[in-house]
Formats: sequence, C-alpha cells, structure tokens
Amino acid sequence: MSFYVTTPIYYVNSTPHIGHAYTTIAADILVRHQRQRGEETFLLTGVDEHASKVYRAAEEQGLDPYEYLDQIVVPWRELPERLDARPDFFIRTSDDGHKAFVRDFVQRIYDNGDVYEDVYAGHYCVRCEAFYADEELVDGNCPIDDVAPEWIEEKNYFFRLSAYQDRLLQLYDDRPDFVLPAFRYNEARSFIAGGLKDFSISRAGQPWGIPLPWDESQVAYVWVDALPNYLSALTYARDGEDLRPTLWPEARHLLGKDILRFHCVYWPALLLSAGYDVPKQLFVHGWLLLGDRKISKSAGNAVDPLELIDVYGADAVRFWAARSISFGQDGAVALDSIAERYERELGNDLGNLVSRTTAMIARYRGGVLPESQNELGEEIRRLADSVAARVDAYDITGALEEIWSVVRSLNRYVEQTRPWALAKDPARSDDLDRTLYTLGDGLRALAIALAAYLPRTAPEILAALGQPDSLAWENVAPGRTTPGTNIAAADPLFPRIETPTAAA
Ligand code: MSP
Repeated sequence: MSFYVTTPIYYVNSTPHIGHAYTTIAADILVRHQRQRGEETFLLTGVDEHASKVYRAAEEQGLDPYEYLDQIVVPWRELPERLDARPDFFIRTSDDGHKAFVRDFVQRIYDNGDVYEDVYAGHYCVRCEAFYADEELVDGNCPIDDVAPEWIEEKNYFFRLSAYQDRLLQLYDDRPDFVLPAFRYNEARSFIAGGLKDFSISRAGQPWGIPLPWDESQVAYVWVDALPNYLSALTYARDGEDLRPTLWPEARHLLGKDILRFHCVYWPALLLSAGYDVPKQLFVHGWLLLGDRKISKSAGNAVDPLELIDVYGADAVRFWAARSISFGQDGAVALDSIAERYERELGNDLGNLVSRTTAMIARYRGGVLPESQNELGEEIRRLADSVAARVDAYDITGALEEIWSVVRSLNRYVEQTRPWALAKDPARSDDLDRTLYTLGDGLRALAIALAAYLPRTAPEILAALGQPDSLAWENVAPGRTTPGTNIAAADPLFPRIETPTAAA
C-alpha cells in the first residue's frame, strides 16, 4: 500500500514561522510512522510562488520576482530539513513541470464546458488571496485577516462551481470520512449545502502567474495554480515516472482551517471537472495561537522555528508541536511551554530514565542486559495497537500521550522495584535481572514507538542499549531485546539548557 501525504504549499512573501513548521512536522510524523509499518510513503511539501503578495514582496525589495524567489526559497527549503522532516519532493509552482500541468488542468475544465467569461466586481483580500462578497466581510474587513480588502473590477473567467453542488453533496454523503475531524466535515458540507457560487479562476492584467492556454492575457487565479500541485508533482518528481496511478488514490491532504473552503469545496469540484478522482482524505487542523491571535508574520508575532531548533533541537520542537495542542483543535501556545516540556518530559521522564537504566546495566551486570521477562509486557503490546490506531486517525497528540503514559509507567516501575536495593542482595539476583530487563526492553520498545516524533533521539536510545537500529513497528513488542554488549551509562539525551528562553 502507498501512503501519500501533502502539506499546503506555503506563500513565500516572507520567511517561515512556527505555524508553517507545524503542518510540516505533523505530516512528517504521519509519514515516518506509516513507513515503520511497512507502507510505501511519499511526503510532498513546497512553496506557492504565484501569489500577488509574493510579487509585491519582490517589488518592495526592488527585486526581479525570480531573483526574489531564489533568495526566499532558501529558508523554505531549509525548514523541513532543519525540522528533520524528509519530504520526497519539494515543489515550487514556478517549476516548468508544474506550469505545464496547470495549463493542461485548466484546459480540461474549459473543454468540459465549465468555464465562462464574466466581469468580476468585488473585494479581493491579497493577504489570503481570496474573493469576498459584501456579506462575507466583517466590519468591512476580510473575515480571516481582519484587513480591508481591495476593490477589483475586471473581466475574468469563472468556474461553474454551482453546477457541482449535487455531486459534492453526494461525495460527502458517500464518504463520511472524506474530511476529518468530523466537525470540519460538517462545516464543509453545510457550506456546500448552503449553495455554491461560481468563482473566478483567472486574474486580468497581472504580470505574475501562469497564463491561461486559451487566453494568454489572463493568468490562473493563484488557488487554481496552487491546488493542482498535489497532482502535478506526481508527474515530474521522478524522472520519466508518473507516480499518479499509485499515489493519487492514496492522497491525504493536511491543511489549516483557514483554507478549508479551497480544499474541501473548490478542489474536489475542480478535480471532478478536469476528470480526476478526488483525494482520499483531507485533515483540517487548527492554528497555533499566541494569545488569541493566529501566529503570522503580518500580525507581528511570528516565532522563528529555526531559532527554536537552534536552542532546543528539532526533536524537542517536534515533540512540543505534537504534544502541546491536540492535533485538529485550535490551541494557545505559551512559548515557555517548550522549555518546560524539554526539561520535565524529555529531560527527566525520558532522558533520565535512559541514563539510569544504562548506568545500572553497566554497573550491576557488566554492560550486558541479562535475559529475563518484561514485567510490563502487556502494556507494551497494547501500546503498539493503540498508537497505530490513533495515528491512523491522525491523532498524533493522543498517540504520543499513550506512549508517554508508558514512559511514566516505567518511571514508576523503577521507583517501586528499586533495583539499587536489589543489587545489594545476592539472593535477589533474578529479581534484579527481571527489573533491568523490563527497563531495557521497555525503553527499546518505547524508542521505536517514539521514532516518528523523535527521529534523532530514538536511534540514540537504541544505540545506548546496544540494540539493532531497525525501527520496524512489529518490534514495539515485549521480549525482543538482545543482550547487547558494552552497555555504558548514556550521556544525557536532553542536556540542560542554560538560557531556555533565548528563543522565546
Ligand atoms: N499558499 C496557501 C496554500 C496553498 S495549498 C494548495 C497558503 N499558504 S500559507 O503559507 O498562508 O499557509 C499555509 C499553511 O500554514 C495553512 O495550512 C495554514 O493554516 C498554516 N498556518 C499558517 N499559520 C498557522 C498557525 N499560526 N498555526 C497553524 N497553522 C498555520 O495558505
């Protein structure tokens, strides 16, 4: 089976902030986990370059747009890498392969009779690149960005979205898990049921974008250029290979709630019109909030993810993102919570447990883990199933909590069994063996369960325990620990940070 996950493609009018890192982290956790379970995975991310605001950002800096793009794309390419996310392809909408695909895509819609010409007179919010009717504005401002939209009046090509209402409702009725979580499904479905207005798929007199094949004086509206990236990438990501037949039926889009309508309504309709199947699933997540405002560059509260990584490391940032806010819900972020979680959970709960366990194996058993049974075996067995089920449901936060409850269990276990006391009594040697084995075997299984979240730390734990580096999910099971040799007291996995608030 294949497992294909996409992130939205990010607008490159400025550098990345922690909100963008959020989707990329979540996508990478899903993909890494499925790979552990033997799936053929593909992770797509990239950048959305043909937005008007991107063009304007270039203008403001006095740069030719392509020159601007080549500079700004650097931190965007760096972002997944620094987060330890491993995209299989990084798409740029200025790629020739993408441009050619979009022209073909819109031509199919045109040939299908779903395009007509009209005059668009209305509001356009450049910040979210969306058209708004009078009644959608809130106090005259864009409902999402709370800024005054621009008034535009121009000849445009329109897509007959209204003609797709019944087909979309049918799709939603046939596939109750098409959009997740369920409250987002309901939101999308009731938007469709409320009646659909045709929308403009082109912009006139724009210097920036992909010209329409039947009228080169117009460029594709940025969303009609951006959404097809999920398909276009599959046509040229691998030289001479068309990945669509295997991957497209397995496509899962992750997106923030602000772009629900584009993804859950416009996109399936455009696909149906162009003669493509719709994706398998869309998962809509909430926003990271600082106070009650969405984090964004324009709101002046952006938090540079690269700086957070410099201070805490990618694993800690991934852990915090997955753990702090239930994935799928809106959250409020206190930035010092990253320092707190780093110290208390990663440093104490996990890091110290690894240090203590390896130190005791070294000291009491000469660096070799004795053969015995895992007393918490049942818990580990249950963990494998419950984590897998939760990740399948995109509940990366719940899955991590399941894992952490076993981390806490092992900590309780070490306090209850007191191996340091057992070591003093030769008559209790078997008990000590069993205790050390339970700890070592439990940590080994936990490391594998955590590998999708902590891709750097997990192999370090396995190495500290002298275990093979395989991350296969079937090894999240008790009793699979080999004796290991030369196990020595491990260095702290999450060393203390002297100025934890440096980035915050
Ligand atoms: N370019 C469009 C997407 C096109 S996809 C075919 C776009 N770009 S964006 O850069 O503005 O946003 C990309 C994603 O980042 C969205 O899913 C958005 O919800 C997410 N986030 C931006 N700020 C965020 C937070 N503060 N918190 C969580 N996610 C946030 O929209």
